[in-house]
Amino acid sequence: MLVLHGPNLNLLGEREPAVYGRTTLREINHRIRVRARALGGTVKAFQSNWEGRLVDLLHQHRRWADVLIINPGALTHTSYVLRDAIEAVRIPAFEVHLSDIRKREPWRRRSVVRAVCKRQISGLGVESYLTALDAAAVLHSPLREGIVPTKRRKTREVPIRAAKR
Ligand code: DQA
Repeated sequence: MLVLHGPNLNLLGEREPAVYGRTTLREINHRIRVRARALGGTVKAFQSNWEGRLVDLLHQHRRWADVLIINPGALTHTSYVLRDAIEAVRIPAFEVHLSDIRKREPWRRRSVVRAVCKRQISGLGVESYLTALDAAAVLHSPLREGIVPTKRRKTREVPIRAAKR
């Protein structure tokens, strides 16, 4: 799993704790790793304050990552660049927010990346990330990937990367 954190999330813990809580990014990444391990997955996590860096990371990691978990920060509301990058790399993506963006300022309620993500998980604090991991694990259960053949499964499995979002 590739985990990307966008601008200003490096300041979690000190940044607007009433909105984002007191958990630091380091602690969030630790909790993500623990949950991923429990689910049998591995994680590479990055944070950047630069839109282009996030795009580069998506490009660089596109070949191995089965799942993308991304909190784009404020780029959520503005970045068609990031939106196009997520679509271009075709990694099934989960959009995550600590705060509930649907209940905040009007400009935060719109996400330009939502359309290229499988799900948006918002407002659960650190649990938003962990919920995304759980959802990603369901997507990648052996049954879904066709590793465990069953007689009941009649439909042809489409490789996850080629599956429609
Ligand atoms: C955020 C919500 C965004 O609106 C904001 O710009 C962030 C964090 C969240 O996790 O709640 O930086 O993505």
